[in-house]
Amino acid sequence: MPHDDVVVVGAGAIGLGIAWRSATRGASVTVVDPAPGSGASSVAPGMLAPVTEFHHGEYELFELNLVSSKMFPAWIAELESVSGMSTGYRRCGTVMAARDADDMISLRETFAFQQRLGMRSEMARSAEVRGIEPALGPNTRGGIHVPGDHQVEPVALLAALLSACEDRGVRFVRSGVSGILVERGKVAGLSTAEGERITCDRVVLAAGARSGMIGGLPPGFVKVRPVKGQVVELLPGDESVCPTHNVRGLDVYLVPRQDGRLVVGATVEEKGWDPHPTAGAVHDLLRYAYELFPGVTEMRFGEVRVGFRPGTPDNAPLLGPTDIEGLILATGHYRNGILLTPVTADRIATLLETGSSPEDITAFSPTRKTMKRS
Ligand code: GLY
Repeated sequence: MPHDDVVVVGAGAIGLGIAWRSATRGASVTVVDPAPGSGASSVAPGMLAPVTEFHHGEYELFELNLVSSKMFPAWIAELESVSGMSTGYRRCGTVMAARDADDMISLRETFAFQQRLGMRSEMARSAEVRGIEPALGPNTRGGIHVPGDHQVEPVALLAALLSACEDRGVRFVRSGVSGILVERGKVAGLSTAEGERITCDRVVLAAGARSGMIGGLPPGFVKVRPVKGQVVELLPGDESVCPTHNVRGLDVYLVPRQDGRLVVGATVEEKGWDPHPTAGAVHDLLRYAYELFPGVTEMRFGEVRVGFRPGTPDNAPLLGPTDIEGLILATGHYRNGILLTPVTADRIATLLETGSSPEDITAFSPTRKTMKRS
């Protein structure tokens, strides 16, 4: 078996992004995953809307989201050029919509926050917001328009990343990982579920919600848990009127694809690894979607998908070196995995190249205080 510079565990958007970036910079990279491109990344809606997704108290995460959002256009252009594949990327903007007076209070707070940050966003009254997004229902009280937001189709993105990795000579081992091999406090490689031993000095653990289950590490060493999310995909019907922007309501988001499909998401459920779609989730998501867009009832039902976000104690990712020499984490992206892919890929590739974490990811160190306490 060859001795690799880097072995990446996990072939979701984050793992593939890191593999592609590192291989582009000259490293020999192997990616280990039983089914590349099939995990939570493939269920994600791909809405790239850092401002509308902001939660109070998550300022450092918000900054990183903004950096990554700005990187997206150039990163996608390079990826599409190398792979020769479309990723469905487009700058469609986001509309945040209020159904009632309570929603409006929340929207005004969000708008004030955006203005304090100097963000480009516009508050719109009922008629104005329906002028921007005509498919909104007549009861809409108002909204915020964020013209700079964008979206990507995660399934297409994953296919392009796989192709770009292959183009750069990344080796794929289609297997689970039974354990990371640590000798005298240092990474020595890993063993696969098929019993293959891969030797390397550096392992990047990018296995999403499964990162905490990898053998060979002390229990609780990687503080990641699965957070179930269900999304519904609707298909265009003859009479349906679909939004053209990303739309965020207080309880639901809608991401329209260019071909007329509409992704409606998402539940946030602390149910461990329960893989079952539920009638209640579909009911709630469609009801919330209907409250904003009565036209969704004319759409055809496509499917329900279930994914497991990698949640962390403070909702922020784990990026950087650990107490085990050679073990680097790039996981725990929770609700921001697709959005954070360009910045994670770039910064982890830099860490692998230079041996030190770039300044803007040091706040997300896997050994930060919040991780030690929990
Ligand atoms: N960022 C979308 C979600 O986690 O539902």
